[in-house]
Amino acid sequence: MQIAWKKELEIGNEMIDTQHRMLVLLLKKLDLAITSRMGEKVVMGVLLEIKKFTEFHFLSEENLMTELHFPGLADHERIHSELLGVLNMFIAKINRKQETPEDILPQIVSWVANHVVSEDLKIAEYVKSSSYRPIAEECYALYLRKYD
Ligand SMILES: [Fe+2]
Ligand SMILES: [Fe+2]
Repeated sequence: MQIAWKKELEIGNEMIDTQHRMLVLLLKKLDLAITSRMGEKVVMGVLLEIKKFTEFHFLSEENLMTELHFPGLADHERIHSELLGVLNMFIAKINRKQETPEDILPQIVSWVANHVVSEDLKIAEYVKSSSYRPIAEECYALYLRKYD
């Protein structure tokens, strides 16, 4: 399936955008592991990478929202825990052979994209207008951008 980072997924916060690029890269990795028939152990390994990275990423966003006193924190946290619930259910179904990774990947890709452009975008918009600033914001340029 077509998985690619695209400009529309950029929400304008360097830290979150960097993590989103990593998440899309892991989805790409899962797709390649499936299509090149790397076997169950490899595919499940990548799924666990996605799960762990998603947990890390959600915590990162929740910390950022807390630092910003973002008013939508509780709603956003609830959506994150629902998404993690769905991801865990997918993994359990694959383990029980009730679903295949091929069937599940498009669903993960679409919920990632939808969540980014609907919910995560709200955080980035809030950052622009808030007088509260993300911790270490001044370090983003040094740590998150690549040098030519
Ligand atoms: Fe996100
Ligand atoms: Fe989020």
